[in-house]
Parts: sequence; C-alpha cells; structure tokens
Amino acid sequence: MGLVRIMGPACCDLILLTMFILMVGAVQAADPDPLQDFCIADLSHKSGQGYFLNGYPCKDPATVRAEDFIFKGLKDASIISPENPWGASANLAFARHWPALNTLGVALVRLDLIPGGVIAPHTHNLATEIVFVTAGELYIGFVANSDDVSAPNKLFAGMVKAGEAFVIPRGLVHFQMNKGTKNASTINFLNSHNPGISFLPLTLFGAQPAVDPALLARSFAVNETAVSALESLWSNFSGLFVSLARKQLNTPNEIEIQRWVLG
Ligand SMILES: *[C@@H]1O[C@H](CO)[C@@H](O)[C@H](O)[C@H]1NC(C)=O
Ligand SMILES: *[C@@H]1O[C@H](CO)[C@@H](O)[C@H](O)[C@H]1NC(C)=O
Ligand SMILES: *[C@@H]1O[C@H](CO)[C@@H](O)[C@H](O)[C@H]1NC(C)=O
Repeated sequence: MGLVRIMGPACCDLILLTMFILMVGAVQAADPDPLQDFCIADLSHKSGQGYFLNGYPCKDPATVRAEDFIFKGLKDASIISPENPWGASANLAFARHWPALNTLGVALVRLDLIPGGVIAPHTHNLATEIVFVTAGELYIGFVANSDDVSAPNKLFAGMVKAGEAFVIPRGLVHFQMNKGTKNASTINFLNSHNPGISFLPLTLFGAQPAVDPALLARSFAVNETAVSALESLWSNFSGLFVSLARKQLNTPNEIEIQRWVLG
C-alpha cells in the first residue's frame, strides 16, 4: 500500500483494477461454482419454451434418489468395429449422460483403443483433463499454443503406462495413441460438466456445410483434390457424431452411453 500512496490515485485505480481482473480470471478458471448441493439435470426440458439456461434445470429435489449419483456406463470396453477409422472409442459421462454432474464442474470419459488406435487431435475448450491409464501403454501429448511466449507450438508428449497419469491443460490440442500390443483403456477426469470436444479432422474437414476447400488447401499448403478427399471422408463421420448426440438428447430419461466413432 505504501507504493500505491507514493504513486498517487490514478495508478492505484489501475493496480486495483488489474488485481480485480486477475482474481476474477482465477476464480472462473473452470465451471462456475454451484449454488446448491446438487441439481440433478432435468433433461426432459426442451429448448424453445422461451427460456434458456447456462446448464440444465434441476429435477424436483423431492424425487432425487441415491441411484441418481451412481453411473454404471463406464464398466465395459466398447467393441471397436473394423470400420472404426481411429481404432478407438470413448464413453462419455458428461452432465447430459449422467445428470447428477449438472453444475458440479466435473466429468468422466472412458477411452478404449486397439493396438495402433488413436484418439485424434482435439481440444476441450472448457476443461483441463487428467488421463489415468488403466490398461496398456499410451503415447499421450499436447502442443503448447502458437502464441506461447516461451514455447510456441512445443510438443509435450510421452509414454504413459497403466497406473500412470498425464494432465492436459485446458483448451490445448492433444491426442492419445495405443503404442502397445494389447488393448488400452483410460479413465479421464475433466473439470467441467460439459467439457466440449472439437476434433480437428471433424471440425476442419467434416464441417456442415463444408469449409471452403480453397481455404483449407491454402492453409495446409496442399491441392484442393487432397482437401476434397478429406472432406468427403470426414463429413460422413461428422454426421454420425451429430446424430448420436441428438438421439441422446431426445431420450432424456435413459442414461445412455455415447459410443462415437462407430464404437
Ligand atoms: C480388444 O478390442 C477388440 C475390439 O473391440 C476386441 O474385439 C478384442 O476382444 C479385445 N481384446 C481383448 C483381449 O480384450
Ligand atoms: C494433388 O497433390 C497430390 C499429392 O501431392 C498429387 O499426387 C496430385 O497429383 C495432385 N493433384 C493435382 C490435381 O494437382
Ligand atoms: C460417405 O458416405 C456416402 C453415403 O453413405 C458414401 O457414398 C461415400 O462413399 C462416403 N465417402 C467416403 C469417403 O467414405
């Protein structure tokens, strides 16, 4: 405070304002704090009734049961079919799959990968993620952002074995690959009830409608033939993902396991 007094009021305002902005930033690093002990999502609420919420409305607390807090959807490995382009599958336990997570700022995912299988490069715009390997051996990594002052586009990656964990900072592009000779599995913890998933192949080459191929060709320094081939492949899988997500929202009372990528 001595420094502040010497430098005068104009500068104090600036320092206080800066501190306030930093504190607000720190507090809002993940989902906002809940306003009650629990708010089991009422997924039967349909959009378009004149109001929209940041999250889901709560089901009547009088009808909440112990079973609401139990999730059984991550027990089994998914069957990964030969058509699965990535050789991998993810079972999601986000708030829309496990309504008890609504407002609690956490989510789970189970990954299963056959040998050589990948979870393609993607981001979670709303969550930091810890990948805990429960079986097998994975190559896991993320890339620092392009504007990182000390390490722009730097790769941080390594081999992670069963019983070990890897943390992926929020929002950064990351991936996993099964480098072992057996199926691998993980349980991933995320600090958002709705972490968001943007797969780079699906968002760039599978967008509906398609991103202008001329833009992608120039961006990747390849010709438009190469881009068209990628767009025709990934637009098919993009549609599958959307239809699975919609199906889930239309069957609100079942806890479904979302098996994407032809899992
Ligand atoms: C590995 O995963 C594949 C694909 O889902 C499955 O067919 C196979 O039975 C699994 N192997 C073992 C040992 O569980
Ligand atoms: C596009 O690029 C691929 C790979 O470099 C090449 O094989 C192909 O001949 C090119 N096609 C055209 C139309 O330039
Ligand atoms: C995408 O799906 C369409 C319609 O099912 C099919 O005709 C086409 O061959 C598929 N494209 C690729 C690259 O798999």
